[in-house]
This record gives sequence, C-alpha cells and structure tokens, in this order.
Amino acid sequence: MSRRRLDHASGRVALVTGGSGGIGEALATELTRRGMALALLARRAAALDASATRLRATGALVTTHSCDVRDTAQLAAAVDAAAAAHGRLDLVAACAGIGRHVMFAEHDSASIDAILATNVTGHLHTLRCALPHLRRDGGWIVSVSSVAGRLGQPGEAVYSASKFAVTGLSEALTIELAPQGIHVLTVHPGFVRTGFVPEEDRWRVPESARRTAVEPEAVARAIVRALERGRHEITIPRLAAGGYVVRTLAPGLFRRILTRMRGGTPT
Ligand SMILES: NC(=O)c1ccc[n+]([C@@H]2O[C@H](COP(=O)([O-])OP(=O)(O)OC[C@H]3O[C@@H](n4cnc5c(N)ncnc54)[C@H](OP(=O)(O)O)[C@@H]3O)[C@@H](O)[C@H]2O)c1
Repeated sequence: MSRRRLDHASGRVALVTGGSGGIGEALATELTRRGMALALLARRAAALDASATRLRATGALVTTHSCDVRDTAQLAAAVDAAAAAHGRLDLVAACAGIGRHVMFAEHDSASIDAILATNVTGHLHTLRCALPHLRRDGGWIVSVSSVAGRLGQPGEAVYSASKFAVTGLSEALTIELAPQGIHVLTVHPGFVRTGFVPEEDRWRVPESARRTAVEPEAVARAIVRALERGRHEITIPRLAAGGYVVRTLAPGLFRRILTRMRGGTPT
C-alpha cells in the first residue's frame, strides 16, 4: 500500500480535536514547529484560548473552535468553520477522548454512555466530517487509539472496548482511504502523564503502567516522526508492542502475566 509522507508540512493546515490539553496540545505544538497552521477543537473555550495564545507566541496561525464531539451537528459546524477559516484542511488528528480507570461493575450507565459517545461516536464523526475537506488534495488522519485498543485491559474494560472500536475503524480506513491519497496513522500510547486519569483515580493505575509512563511531548514527537516516515501504526513506548506478540502467540501466558500484574489469582 502506498505511503504518504508528511514532508512539506509548512503552510499546511491541521485540525486537532482535544487541542485544549494533553496529547492534542503537545501535537499541535509539534506541528506548528513544522510551520503548519492549526485549528484547535475541544469543549472548554478558556483552555482552548490558553493553548492558542501559547502557540501564537511562536508565530503560528491558530484558530479555536469550541465544540463537544458528542454533538454531531455542533461538530460538523465546527469542522466546516475550521476549514473555512483556513481555506483548507490537510491533516486531522482525532485526540479528544475520555476514560475511567474503574472496574466494569463500578460504572453506571451514564459513564459508559459518555465514554462510548466521546471515544467512538465522536471520533467516527470527526473523521467523517473532515473527509470531504481532506479529499480535495489528499491528506493525513491521525487516529489516537491506545494500547488498551490492542489489549483488553482489566480495570479499563469500557475504555478498552471504545479503543478497540477506534483501532478497527482506523485499520479499515487505512486501506479504504489510501486510493484517495489519505494516509491514516493509528497511534497506540501506553500510560501518558496528562490530566487524562483524574487525580483521585491515579492510585488505581497499576505500578507497571506508571513505571513506563511517557510525557505527552514524547508522544507528539513520535507521531510527527511517524508521519514524516509514512508509517501507519505506532505504539509508545515501543516496548508495549511486545504485549501484542505475546497476546497472539501465547494467550494463556498473556492472561497469567496480566493477572499477576493486577494482583489477581491466575486462572
Ligand atoms: N493519557 C493517557 O495515558 C492515554 C493513553 C492512551 C491513549 N490516550 C488517548 O489520548 C487521547 C488524548 O488524551 P490525553 O491524555 O491528552 O487526555 P487529556 O489531557 O484529558 O485531554 C483530552 C482532550 O480531549 C478533549 N475532550 C474530551 N472530551 C471531549 C468532548 N466531548 N468534545 C471535545 N473535546 C473533548 C479535552 O478537552 P475539553 O475538556 O476542553 O473538551 C482535552 O483537550 C485520548 O483519546 C485518550 O484516550 C491517552
């Protein structure tokens, strides 16, 4: 399959959902360093403005579009407004997402619905709304999944379910959109030091995940490097991808390792 490398980034336009913080803001920063203009999308207008102010201080052209990805009409209007403001869209990075590190039985229906509406439906519609703009000259999609979108994570069952959906969507689009000159990169971060896991839930994150935690800037650099090399999939840190091999070749061993890591009784 053909690879489209992001080699001449300067003057191009990127739309980043989740641009008000964490991985989205770090990615926006890295893209502006390559000379790209940015459209940032998230719910909190004040946080978006703060991100935009930081980026503009470096000379970048940045617009903000306050919107909830769970509201499809609002999302469609925000994506169209971003494309109209910049005259084009070359790259869309779907970073907006939420999660909870709790056992399945501890979820109520509202928290399950919120995770699925944000991570699955919101992600899907972000890409769907951006597609007509990307199709004009071809472009790039950065689809942020998770290691939890490749390996079912105990204590994150609902989040894992949402990220498996993102991985499936992204894998299918990688092949489906290639003939239109649209390159899809699927990103599988492990544990990243952002505000993603609320303070009160951090003690629930297993020690093994905390030990290998990376900064959002490292994820952003890895994403841009992968785009420049025309890669379709990355896992950060790379070591975590070893789990995919063990899961495939020795699923029983994989379950025992996970059980031990989570302090349960091996089955
Ligand atoms: N941090 C990790 O350990 C980790 C690991 C693997 C994958 N990921 C994935 O990486 C992505 C970014 O996470 P992060 O770590 O950067 O988390 P974060 O710091 O909490 O940032 C999440 C971003 O998503 C936005 N967002 C959330 N709900 C939204 C909604 N309904 N509509 C629009 N924007 C929304 C938030 O902005 P507003 O609150 O202003 O809307 C924020 O900008 C997520 O998809 C997450 O699943 C994170």
